[in-house]
Amino acid sequence: MISVETVATSAYIVAALLFILALAGLAKHETAKAGNTFGIVGMAVALTATVVLAISRDIEPVGLVLLVGATALGAVIGLWRARIVEMTGMPELIALLHSFVGLAAVLVGWNGYLHIERHPQGADADLLRVDGLLGIHSAEVAIGVFIGAVTFTGSIVANLKLSARMKSNPMMLPGKNILNVGALVLFAALVVWFVIEPQLWTLVAITVLALLLGWHLVASIGGGDMPVVVSMLNSYSGWAAAASGFLLGNDLLIITGALVGSSGAYLSYIMCKAMNRSFLSVIAGGFGIAAGPAGDTDYGEHREITAGGVAKLLAEAGSVVITPGYGMAVAQAQYGVAELTRKLRERDVNVRFGVHPVAGRLPGHMNVLLAEAKVPYEIVLEMDEINDDFDETDVVLVIGANDTVNPAASEDPQSPIAGMPVLTVWKADNVVVFKRSMAAGYAGVQNPLFFRENSAMIFGDAKDRVEDILKAL
Ligand code: TAP
Repeated sequence: MISVETVATSAYIVAALLFILALAGLAKHETAKAGNTFGIVGMAVALTATVVLAISRDIEPVGLVLLVGATALGAVIGLWRARIVEMTGMPELIALLHSFVGLAAVLVGWNGYLHIERHPQGADADLLRVDGLLGIHSAEVAIGVFIGAVTFTGSIVANLKLSARMKSNPMMLPGKNILNVGALVLFAALVVWFVIEPQLWTLVAITVLALLLGWHLVASIGGGDMPVVVSMLNSYSGWAAAASGFLLGNDLLIITGALVGSSGAYLSYIMCKAMNRSFLSVIAGGFGIAAGPAGDTDYGEHREITAGGVAKLLAEAGSVVITPGYGMAVAQAQYGVAELTRKLRERDVNVRFGVHPVAGRLPGHMNVLLAEAKVPYEIVLEMDEINDDFDETDVVLVIGANDTVNPAASEDPQSPIAGMPVLTVWKADNVVVFKRSMAAGYAGVQNPLFFRENSAMIFGDAKDRVEDILKAL
């Protein structure tokens, strides 16, 4: 007769495979939906197996009620939040979800401590002691709590920064690098201490230290690097889950945690390369990044242009490049932009889109919006594919983009976004910038593009202005 344990283990392996298929599916537009479905089915299988396993191990009724109740409540809240979240609010929701994984790892770690180290005479502690594994258990507790607590507060800061409830500028405490390195050294010492003598105060100290470090690491990173931070926290949350897996002896958690941990780390690395950032510097809380100047440079006067003026420029143009950004998403201007593209293409104007890897607020944000508005895939190009063509472009329409078209990134070594590759729109004959004011972009940096001789601003909501241009055309 096959035992429930065997069935549950098999179900866990199936779930792990489904998670791998989910990741593989999410790598491409065409297979993303299937990838999502694999992930959902995998999670349903894993949760069912966990509940069945708990019942077979004679879980107390109150435990079962808590388990099923918490799962149902979590599912309802998750469905509700995911349904109402705006595309632009997605990164902050993801950051919040990472904080839950971190908190869960802290609670699992503390539970492990209360169950084993706090009851050294208990049967489970005895079992571990006989096998000589008590020290390993204590190390797992300390490391799991540490990673979880760093992830928890780090994700909360990321959420606050992304939702603009906290300033996006990097916090610059004096000696911040020494503080970070000092915290890691202290953590290592505390773990050794905790393994030798697992006392309550040591675990409290580790938890408080990690909570402070998580807060400091992410607060020290500027807004422009937030996309990397979110994917890095995704990675941390994976390692936190894997640490919980070791503590609970749950293989599926270990596999899933490792998958999330390594794919998140790889995504962070790719993003760092795309933004010309040092991966190590970002994970070390902006290690080596100094505060930029106050940003009060006087760039002169900007010019303004009317919708009629833009329509005239477009009517006379042979080639047009549109570079969308976060503002297009806020204004939901993609449908008007798609209509404008269609009209211009009917007049044989060569219209293309240039999409920066971090335009908007999450990877692929612009591509999703443009696809939704039925802009043909083949005219939507990546930054590297379009950057050499601006020289020969008559008109560039910068629709609600700012940091991603900022020449200071390549021309001003003092700029906080120095070194980040940008769309070199200023090389075109004419640049029209759609925005509502002269305010700075997400990274809080002034944009000298707005003051160039070949640039003109068209103020107002991007959707309204695009419609005005369509009428004038
Ligand atoms: P931003 O630099 O954020 O600039 C967006 C511009 O849109 C703003 O200057 C804003 O100016 C304008 N805007 C806002 N609402 C508008 C509306 N209704 N109509 C017209 N204009 C509007 O955008 P970006 O160039 O796309 O750069 C993205 C930034 O976000 C980068 O710094 C990036 O690092 C960061 N970030 C990216 C991600 C990912 S993964 N993509 C995640 C987190 C953060 P006004 O207020 O004057 O209108």
